[in-house]
Amino acid sequence: MDFIIDATVQAVNTLYQTAITAQDVNLQQTRKEFEGQVTIVTFPFTKISRKGPEQTGQEIGEYLKANVTEVADFNIIKGFLNISIADSYWLSLYRDQVTREDFGVARPNGKKVMVEYSSPNTNKPLHLGHVRNNLLGYSVAAILQAAGYEVIKANLVNDRGIHICKSMLAWQMFGNGETPQSAGMKGDHLVGKYYVIFDKEYKRQIDELKAEGKTEEEAKKNAPLILQAQQMLQKWEAGDEEVISLWKTMNTWVYDGFAKTYKKLGVDFDKYYYESDTYLLGKDIIEEGLTKGVFFKKEDGSVWIDLTEDGLDQKLVRRADGTSVYITQDLGTAQLKYDDYGMSESIYVVGNEQDYHFKVLFLILQKLGKEWAQGLYHLSYGMVDLPSGKMKSREGTVVDADDLIQQMEETAKETTEALGKTVDYSDEDKAKLYHMIGMGALKYFLLKVDPKKRLLFDPNESVDFQGHTGPFIQYTHARIRSVLSRVEAPANAADVTVLDAVERDLMIQLTQYPDMVVSAAIDHNPATIANYIYELAKAYNKFYHEKSIMQAESDDIKAFRLSLSVSTAAVITKGMALLGIEVPERM
Ligand code: ARG
Repeated sequence: MDFIIDATVQAVNTLYQTAITAQDVNLQQTRKEFEGQVTIVTFPFTKISRKGPEQTGQEIGEYLKANVTEVADFNIIKGFLNISIADSYWLSLYRDQVTREDFGVARPNGKKVMVEYSSPNTNKPLHLGHVRNNLLGYSVAAILQAAGYEVIKANLVNDRGIHICKSMLAWQMFGNGETPQSAGMKGDHLVGKYYVIFDKEYKRQIDELKAEGKTEEEAKKNAPLILQAQQMLQKWEAGDEEVISLWKTMNTWVYDGFAKTYKKLGVDFDKYYYESDTYLLGKDIIEEGLTKGVFFKKEDGSVWIDLTEDGLDQKLVRRADGTSVYITQDLGTAQLKYDDYGMSESIYVVGNEQDYHFKVLFLILQKLGKEWAQGLYHLSYGMVDLPSGKMKSREGTVVDADDLIQQMEETAKETTEALGKTVDYSDEDKAKLYHMIGMGALKYFLLKVDPKKRLLFDPNESVDFQGHTGPFIQYTHARIRSVLSRVEAPANAADVTVLDAVERDLMIQLTQYPDMVVSAAIDHNPATIANYIYELAKAYNKFYHEKSIMQAESDDIKAFRLSLSVSTAAVITKGMALLGIEVPERM
């Protein structure tokens, strides 16, 4: 609403002979309980007017009403000047923009952004934490794309290291040649099974050593299994054929499994990075840092960076034996990503337990003088809990992603069948619908919350057709399609001039969609879209209950209400797609 801002600047100039700029005008959306659609905060102008906030508001309001045709009326609540914009303004905005095919899709802004997400380790299947990660990453990528960015979705797979050697070793020792096929198991689950077996056996050995009088620490270091796993990692690094071949086989199993989970989740990637390719890359950067004096060497030969002046501590970047640590690899990968794509922004979707890691990573890259480090951003998110308690990794009690997906489909099925909604569906259509509703419930529940916040996932609440849920919005969409299936929708919004409150509310909400996309993109926050779509669905339902479409007062009004219905269905479809959620034609 630049024209309101400009007119307010003029008003202050004229009324009080004082020059202000657009930045001085604080324009907000009018709060629901008040009349009007936009609100100017008048407190800051009282110094200029030397009058109270009410009187200042009154004078500016009168000026605007007299000089701006779109200003139909105004009211004042203390330091807030609430402005009612004329229906004609909203109607023309609606006709010119909302009804367009490409509404809400920004023109390319010429900027490239990489969104790295998922980035699993290949020693076990995906769990609930990964689910939040995947949904967030996919959604943020979709939102940035809608906001005009060219987006590269990247997945950095941690396919090497001691954790994979643990699964490999346990499989060698206890697997009897078992394969996903022979076990009838998804490959990632099979590999995860051996990771758990390793852990169990390892713990048993630790207990044995402790019984022999060793301390916990000694026992952990000297248990035969861990020594063997370390040996295996050394062999891997030396290119030992047998180890490499087992590693390839087991990783292939895992990738098969991941691919199935990704497909069910509806997420995808443009580029895969593998740590087996990138883990040596950081070593050049270590040399670069030593030459530039950013890093220093300790007596034992280990390499460090001192970040105490930045309020952090000293951080190891290369071990005394010359091997890399986690951050070494990430330094190298960051450079590689930039060399590959030259993007201006690069987002890392990673849980908040790695906040410190990314702080250090970005700081090091800045200190190394990498200009592109300005564009790095850690999209940090909180843990997901289930009502039964915190999910744990390692102990084998994690909430498995595949189990969760299946459970969601079943819950969706029960709820839908209890409501008798699918009696006339084919089995295939039923399966599709239950998947759509189950995933819609899961995705919406996880994405409607600010990423930073820890959240409690309640599967039953998430499928409630009446609640603040994905299925409620999906149902609203199906309801609109059902209305529209009974009539020819009008080609364009018909000629109405007078609007009713529920129509106006709905129409104004529709016009806000592009702003929501921009705001969600700036904040990297899908919750903005999720909550907006919910409000939109509610506004439509209110409109639907209060106004008759088929028995409208005139043909023009009927056409207009149909048009509002078409637009609402379209914005719901687009907005939900930004969350990775599909909406059904009927349900
Ligand atoms: N694979 C790591 C993990 O599972 C996450 C990697 C995140 N991305 C990165 N560039 N460090 O904890």
